[in-house]
Amino acid sequence: MRVALGVGGGIAAYKAAELARALMERGCSVQAILTAAAQHFITPLTFAALTQRKVITSLFPANSAEEIYSSSIDHIRLAQETDILVVAPATADLLARFAQGLASDFLTAFHLAFPGPVVLSPAMNTNMWLHPATQANIQLLRSRQLLRSRGYHIIPPDEGLLACGTTGAGRLPDPIRIAQHVIDIGHPRRDLDGETMLITAGPTQESLDPVRFISNRSSGKMGYSLAEAAIARGAKVVLVSGPVPLAAPPEAELIRVRTALEMRDAVLANLPCSTVIIKSAAVADYHLENVPDQKVKKTAMRMSIELSPTPDILAEVGRQKGDRLLIGFAAETQNLVAEARRKLETKNCDMVVANLVSQQGIGFESEENEVMLVMRSGDTVKLDKAPKRRIADGILDHVLKLGLALRETH
Ligand code: CTP
Repeated sequence: MRVALGVGGGIAAYKAAELARALMERGCSVQAILTAAAQHFITPLTFAALTQRKVITSLFPANSAEEIYSSSIDHIRLAQETDILVVAPATADLLARFAQGLASDFLTAFHLAFPGPVVLSPAMNTNMWLHPATQANIQLLRSRQLLRSRGYHIIPPDEGLLACGTTGAGRLPDPIRIAQHVIDIGHPRRDLDGETMLITAGPTQESLDPVRFISNRSSGKMGYSLAEAAIARGAKVVLVSGPVPLAAPPEAELIRVRTALEMRDAVLANLPCSTVIIKSAAVADYHLENVPDQKVKKTAMRMSIELSPTPDILAEVGRQKGDRLLIGFAAETQNLVAEARRKLETKNCDMVVANLVSQQGIGFESEENEVMLVMRSGDTVKLDKAPKRRIADGILDHVLKLGLALRETH
C-alpha cells in the first residue's frame, strides 16, 4: 500500500517517525510530507532515513541545500501514486485548512488533489481541540465521510497529560494504533459483518467514600483494541467501558460506567441484541455496600473495611447467553491454563483469553500482550507477544472460527 504521511507542526511530530516505521513494518511504502511548521519540531532527514526516500518539504522545487533529502515530485503526480493519506499529528491549523479547502502549501494542495481516503489523527492542546472552531472543522470534515473507501476517517485524540502541562483530550494515540487504522482502511476485511459485539473494557472503581475508591491497573487498551478491530472487520460494537483515558472509536456505541454494578446493568441491558460478548474488563471482585456520604476522617486508630462480593457478570451472562458466543478473560499470576479452564467451565464460556499479568511488558498497562486461548474443545492456542491490536485480531480470528463451527452444528 502506498501511504502519504503528512506531518503537522506539533510536539507530537516526533511520534510520526514511529508511525512511519510502523507503516513500513506492515509492508507500506511511505512518502513523508512535512509542513514548514513540522520542520521546527523534527527534521526531514529522520523521515528520509526511515522511509528510504526523499521527503517533501515544500510546494516549490527545493534549493540545492535541501536536495539531499527533499523530493521535487509535484502534488498532482503524487496524488496518482498514493493509495491513502494519513496526517499525524493533524494540527488545529491543518484541520482548518483541510476543512476550508485551502492549498497554501504542499500538504494542503496534495490533500485537494488526492481523491482517496484520508486518515486524520488530531493532536493539540485541550483548549485548542475543544475550541468551537476546531470542533466545527471536525464536524465539517466528518460530514464529508461518504464511504469507508473514500472520505475522512478521524481518530479522536486520547486524554492524558499533554506536553503543555495541561491534562485533557489532545494526545496523539499510540502510532501502532494509527498504523493499524491505515491498514484497516486500505485493506478492509469485512468478515464480521452482521455481528453485534458487546465488549467490556477497563477497570471498575468501587467507592469507599466520596473521594476514595478501590480499583486495579487495567488500562482498557486490550478492550479498546478489540473494539477497533471488530469495527474494522464490519461488526457493530457496543463498548461498555470503565474509567480510562482512551478515546473510543467513533463508530462504537460507548457506554461509560464506573462500578461493577453499573457494568452489570449495561451488559445485561445490551445482551439481547448482541451475538458475541467479550468480557475483557477487569471487574473489581469486592465493593463497599454502604458508601458513606461524607469523607472518612483520619484517626490514630487502625481501621478495617468490610467488603462484599460484586456480582460476577461473566457468570451471569454465562447462564443467560443462549447460543451467543461468550469470551471471558483470565488475568492470572500463576497456573495460567488450569485457572483459565476452571473459569471456562464455571462461567460457561466458549473461550477464555488468559494472560500472565505478573510478566513485565505484557498485559496490564502495556502496549503489548501475550495470551493463551483456552477453548471448550480442550485445545489451547498461544498468541505470541505482539501489540494489543494484533492480539485483538488473533482473538477475533478464533471467535470467527468458533462462530462458524457453532452455526454448522445448528
Ligand atoms: N468478571 C466479571 N465480573 C466480576 C469479576 C470478573 O464479569 N465480578 C469477569 C472478567 O471480566 C473476566 C473474567 O470474569 O472476563 C475473569 O476475571 P478474573 O478477575 O480473572 O477472575 P475472577 O472470576 O475474579 O476469579 P479469581 O479472582 O479467582 O481469579
